[in-house]
Amino acid sequence: MREFIQVAAITDLKNGSMKKIRAGGQDLLLARVGDRYYCMDAFCPHLGGDLSEGTLAGTILTCPLHHSQFDISDGHVLRWTDLAGIVLAAAKNQRPPRPLGTYPVKIEGKAVLVEK
Ligand code: FES
Repeated sequence: MREFIQVAAITDLKNGSMKKIRAGGQDLLLARVGDRYYCMDAFCPHLGGDLSEGTLAGTILTCPLHHSQFDISDGHVLRWTDLAGIVLAAAKNQRPPRPLGTYPVKIEGKAVLVEK
């Protein structure tokens, strides 16, 4: 059964920052963009890059390994690796693009809760 779990305080994250958290027995990533908080898988669906070491620009998260990009508002793929042409086609054939898992977040008082 899914439930909301407190994972942080709103003061733990500055605007535009990310923090690795653990909820429901899984490593996740919590991000703040403006006054909104987002929660997603901590590892890239391509080949498992540690997304906490990636970069966040608005809601666009870029993986540090092969630079796939995901919109953290819903996890959809914006770019699958930084490969191009036939090499990208082969990579997609071998490992088709998959969205980043995302999880609902809510704020209660000064607490950040994630549904997991
Ligand atoms: S592991 Fe993230 S793009 Fe390859």
